[in-house]
Amino acid sequence: MKNSITITDNRTNNSYEFEIKDATRGPSVVDISSFYAQTGMFTYDNGFTSTASCTSDITFIDGNKGELRYRGIEIEELATEHSFLAVCYLLLNSKLPNEEELLDFDLELRHRSLLHENLRHLFQAFPSGAHPMATLSAATAALATFYYDHLNISDESDYQEMARRIIAKMPTIAAFAYRHSIGAPFIHPDIDRGFAENFLYMLRAYPGGKMHRGIYGEYTIKEIEIKALDTIFTLHADHEQNASTTTVRGVASTGAHPYVAISAGISALWGRAHGGANESVIQQLEMIGSIENVDKFIARAKDPDDDFRLMGFGHRVYKNFDPRAKVLKGLQEQLKDELKLDSNLMQIANKIEEIALNDEYFISRKLYPNIDFYSGVILTALKIPTSMFTPIFVIGRTVGWITQWIEFKKTKGMKITRPRQLYIGK
Ligand code: CMC
Repeated sequence: MKNSITITDNRTNNSYEFEIKDATRGPSVVDISSFYAQTGMFTYDNGFTSTASCTSDITFIDGNKGELRYRGIEIEELATEHSFLAVCYLLLNSKLPNEEELLDFDLELRHRSLLHENLRHLFQAFPSGAHPMATLSAATAALATFYYDHLNISDESDYQEMARRIIAKMPTIAAFAYRHSIGAPFIHPDIDRGFAENFLYMLRAYPGGKMHRGIYGEYTIKEIEIKALDTIFTLHADHEQNASTTTVRGVASTGAHPYVAISAGISALWGRAHGGANESVIQQLEMIGSIENVDKFIARAKDPDDDFRLMGFGHRVYKNFDPRAKVLKGLQEQLKDELKLDSNLMQIANKIEEIALNDEYFISRKLYPNIDFYSGVILTALKIPTSMFTPIFVIGRTVGWITQWIEFKKTKGMKITRPRQLYIGK
C-alpha cells in the first residue's frame, strides 16, 4: 500500500487522499498534482516555503543541520580538497574527474573562454558606468544569437558542450562588463592561465597583458588570491531550487534557449534578498562606518517598524550556520594571517557577528550569517571592485544553473511552469 495523507474539508466532510513520496535524504513530499482536479481548489504557498517544484539528484541541503552536498559530497570537502573545475565536472557528470579528465576539461574551458568578436561590439551600446550585472545579463542573452543551434539539442554530448561553453565564457563576459563600466579597454583571456587566475587577470591587466601593480605591491596575482577566488566559486556553484535556479527552470519549461534561461537567472540573482546581498553587505558596513555604531544598527534591524535588515544575515533554508559561511570564515582567518589583513570593515563585520550570534532577536529567529556576509568582506580584502561581487556569484553559479537546466530537460513529463492564483479583484 502506498503511503498517503488524507485531507478533510470541514465544510462538507469530504476527504481527499494524496500520495506521500519519500526522498533519499530530507523531507518527503505530498504529491498534490491532482489537488485541483479532486477538490476544485488551489493550494496557496506564499514564497513557496512548503513547495518542492521538481525532483533532483544534484544538490542536497539540510537547513537544520547546516549541511550542503553536491552530488552527495559535502561542501567542506569539495571546497578544501578540490578545485572549482573539478566541482564543475562533478556537477555535470555526477562524478569527480580523474587527473586526465580534469586536464582535458580545463584545457577545453581555456579554449572556449574567448568571445566572438561581434559580441564584443555589443558592450559599446551600453553607457559607461552601467552596472556590470545588467551588462552581464544582456550579453549572456545575446550569446544565444551566436549559438542558436543549442535551442534544439537533446543528446548528452551536445548538452555537455553547451554547458562547457557558457561556463568558460562567463568570466570573460563578466570581466568585459566591468572594464566597460569603468571605460577601460578589454583584456582577452590568456590561455596560459587557469580559470580563477584568468578572471583576475582580465579584471586587472593593462593592454599587452602587463599586470598593474597588485594590491601587495608586486606585478603578479598571488597564489592565495587565486585559491580564495576558486573556493568562493565552489561555494556558489549550486544551491538547490533557490530563486534564480527556479527562474532558470521556469524559462527552461517554456522551451526557450538555454542561454536566455541563464540570463534570466542572472537577473533574478541580482536582487539584494538573493545574490545582490554580497554588494549590499559592504555598502551597509561602509554606512555603519565604525565599531561604535554597530549597536545602533543592530537595534534598527530588530525594530519591527524599521525596514532596515542586516544584510548577509538569515536564510530561507538554513536555520543553523550556513556551511558555506563556515568555510569562508576559515578562509578569512587564513587571509588575515597570510596577508596580514585586518581592515576596518572586517572589524565591524566581526563585531556585528559577535553581537548577533548572542542576541535573543537573532537566536529566536535562527538568523545566522550567510555566505554573502563573509564573501563581501573577503572580496573587499582582495580589492575586488564592489560592483563585481554579484558577477562573481554568477561565475560560480553558472554551472549550477546549466546543470539544473539539463536535468529539467532530461526529466520525463516535466510541464510548463504555470501556477494559479487566489483572485481577489472585481
Ligand atoms: N535582519 C533582521 N531581521 C531579519 C533578517 C535580517 N537580515 N532576515 C530575516 N529577519 C527577520 C524578519 O524580519 C522576520 O521577523 P518576524 O518574524 O519578527 O517578522 C523573520 O526574521 C523571518 O524573516 P523572513 O523575511 O520571513 O524570512 P525569509 O526566509 O522569507 O527570508 C532572507 C530570507 C534571506 C530573504 C532574509 O533573511 C533576508 O532578507 N536577509 C538579508 C538579505 C541576505 O543576506 N540575503 C542573502 C541570502 S544567502 C545568498 C543566497 O543564497 O541567495
